[in-house]
Amino acid sequence: MRSFDFGKNWQAFSADHVDERRIAVATRSLQDLLGREDLGGASVLDVGCGSGIFAIAAHRIGADHVLGVDINPRSINASEQNLARLTPDAPVTFRLASALDRTAMDGLGMFDLVYAWGSLHHTGAMYTAITNTARLVTPGGTLVLAIYNRHITSPVWRSIKWFYNRVPWPVQRLMAIIFAGIIYLAKLAVTRRNPLEKERGMDFWYDVIDWVGGYPYEYATPTEIERFVARLGFTLRRLVPAQVPTGCNEFVFEQTSA
Ligand SMILES: C[S@@+](CC[C@H](N)C(=O)[O-])C[C@H]1O[C@@H](n2cnc3c(N)ncnc32)[C@H](O)[C@@H]1O
Repeated sequence: MRSFDFGKNWQAFSADHVDERRIAVATRSLQDLLGREDLGGASVLDVGCGSGIFAIAAHRIGADHVLGVDINPRSINASEQNLARLTPDAPVTFRLASALDRTAMDGLGMFDLVYAWGSLHHTGAMYTAITNTARLVTPGGTLVLAIYNRHITSPVWRSIKWFYNRVPWPVQRLMAIIFAGIIYLAKLAVTRRNPLEKERGMDFWYDVIDWVGGYPYEYATPTEIERFVARLGFTLRRLVPAQVPTGCNEFVFEQTSA
């Protein structure tokens, strides 16, 4: 399977945009999603850490130690550089690991908060990745997931992403430009907010590339995710529905099986 090089996009995003202002926005969004201002010494695992900014944000709000993992060496490189530039000497580490490798995941340890935002639907085996990730949450701990919403257009988007990863670079660039216009207008129409003002410290252009190219790509309804994760011993504490029909639903689960 030909996959999208997320790490390349994260490196470019990091070089252009990751600064204290972005970290502050990322930190606020993490606090809002969790409904907590402070992590009070919690241990945190960020699965599919991308640019590493949420691992850094978790440290900023009081996590005791934070581990970020990603399958892409360029994501790990971007994360380490962002950490070195913005928060040197913090107890935050990044490591290459796949959410699909159960042995490697089990070797990471157990964490009070496991955060997997927008990553597990890009693994190629989303439910295996969710299972391997959920195993690492301590009893009473928190699991955060963000998973693409199932929509009537989802299979079309999957084909577009598949195609993007098979065409040469100039065609990819052309696709990104065309879709930037379409996504801008669609988001404006649905949310009535300026699409250039991104949440979570992200950037419109790099998000468009991530969206158009992001393959493998899976999706699910909120109920499908809630039922699956409930079978793993979790109770849904919070659901933030996607702002646009093909966006991410955000889930905050508590490990309640112990
Ligand atoms: C859309 S990015 C999300 C990044 C970050 N969580 C955020 O919220 O900004 C998805 C990330 O998941 C990573 N990823 C994809 N498959 C993975 C796997 N099997 N194991 C770990 N990470 C994976 C990608 O390399 C990429 O950095």
